[in-house]
Amino acid sequence: MSSTHCAALPDVQAAAARLRGRVRRTPVVGSGGLGRLAGRRLLFKCELFQKTGSFKIRGALNAIRSLVEEAQRAGAELPRAVVTHSSGNHGQALACAARKRCVLSALTAWLFHRTGIPAYIVVPRTAPRCKKAAIQAYSATLVPCEPSDESRAETAARVVEETGGIMVHPNQEPAVIAGQGTIALEVLEQVPEVNALVVPVGGGGMIAGIAVAVKALRPDVKVFAAEPCNADDCYQSKLRGELTPNLHPPDTIADAVKTSIGANTWPIIRDLVDDVLTVSEQEIKATTRLVWERMKLLIEPTAGVGVAAVLSEQFQAVSRDVQNVCVVLCGGNVDLSSLTWLTDLHGKAE
Ligand SMILES: Cc1ncc(COP(=O)(O)O)c(C=O)c1O
Repeated sequence: MSSTHCAALPDVQAAAARLRGRVRRTPVVGSGGLGRLAGRRLLFKCELFQKTGSFKIRGALNAIRSLVEEAQRAGAELPRAVVTHSSGNHGQALACAARKRCVLSALTAWLFHRTGIPAYIVVPRTAPRCKKAAIQAYSATLVPCEPSDESRAETAARVVEETGGIMVHPNQEPAVIAGQGTIALEVLEQVPEVNALVVPVGGGGMIAGIAVAVKALRPDVKVFAAEPCNADDCYQSKLRGELTPNLHPPDTIADAVKTSIGANTWPIIRDLVDDVLTVSEQEIKATTRLVWERMKLLIEPTAGVGVAAVLSEQFQAVSRDVQNVCVVLCGGNVDLSSLTWLTDLHGKAE
């Protein structure tokens, strides 16, 4: 591992051992139709079928189980609470992971007189309703904030102070990054002939975890980031060679990638991600709809970002040696009540 990287392959392998039997090994499916459009063989890692509807449970559960293991080793108290800020999916995942059955063995629960770890989730007030409802359904406390990185961070810091809880950052926490990297271990086993992975990027936790695993095990496999043009901080950072966060809260249908990459994920992205592909709002919407109609997979628009990237003109320039391309369909938490953009796409709903 580079000394500037906060996670490495052994961390991802340890996460895989912690998560075994506790998260789903999601399937990889193909699509001849979409593959013909891309001019390559396309494979899709179906994290929309993951527990809580997105890959986020991998990182959240790895982080909480690591905290519990640490407390047990030190003979210390379990965390009083866990706190995070989230556009929704990490919040759902942390809320689920903090519940008793997921995180504490019966013996630990009895020893510590605890039935789980209370979870406080700071959520932008503009987050999809279905995501907020799911967080509450997992019995977590929802704390609203404004839709900006600053408001998220400030509100979470206040909740940490008030509750004495531990912050589990959605994308900069090393245990979260390592947990997300388990996606790559599965893909390399499921599709050994893979030449490239395409990964939507928000804060960069998922792509950082995937990149450290892939480049340690199979440096020949390319790792591409995909992001909306309207939230292109990862692209700008790579272009300038320095961390360049989004200046304003981005306006994109891909609500889960509005956040910027950060201090822990940037060095990994800088060193290990091969390229960043950006896509327009129109491309994201049209592609998300295409996946629903052709593949019958109810992906959320953020997952459509990765698919749009491999169907883009920009991707045509990638070497023809890159034939087997695996796109991570990162989530399926769609707010069905907010589908007015389908109407916008063609002037009227069909
Ligand atoms: C469905 C989905 N895809 C992608 C991302 C981006 O992940 P990261 O912030 O680790 O880059 C998120 C983050 O919330 C997400 O929920």
